[in-house]
Amino acid sequence: MEFEYIKTIEVSRLTDGEGVYHKLESGRELAFFLIDEILYAIDNKCPHMGMPLHEGSLVDKHVLMCRYHQWKFDLKTGISTFAPNIYIKKYETRVEDGFIFVKMPVMS
Ligand code: FES
Repeated sequence: MEFEYIKTIEVSRLTDGEGVYHKLESGRELAFFLIDEILYAIDNKCPHMGMPLHEGSLVDKHVLMCRYHQWKFDLKTGISTFAPNIYIKKYETRVEDGFIFVKMPVMS
């Protein structure tokens, strides 16, 4: 599978501990989190009922809690805190010229 890095938002928009929403041209919706200078990019849809994860809050530093039904996910692994087979999709990132680039499969 081929991958490409897609340009998204300026990294300066992120505040430590606050989720930021971004929709790609493909329609995929992402949430970004910056925690202790580590950047996380995830699918914005909660695996439970698809609600937006960027509205969630952080508990135990790197654990994101969905605001709708309180499911929790470790942002370091993407895995939920209660079942290893329930997880959020994470994306690799890199920052260039102040912008976040997200690694995505090439759409054909
Ligand atoms: S939609 Fe996230 S916990 Fe229910």
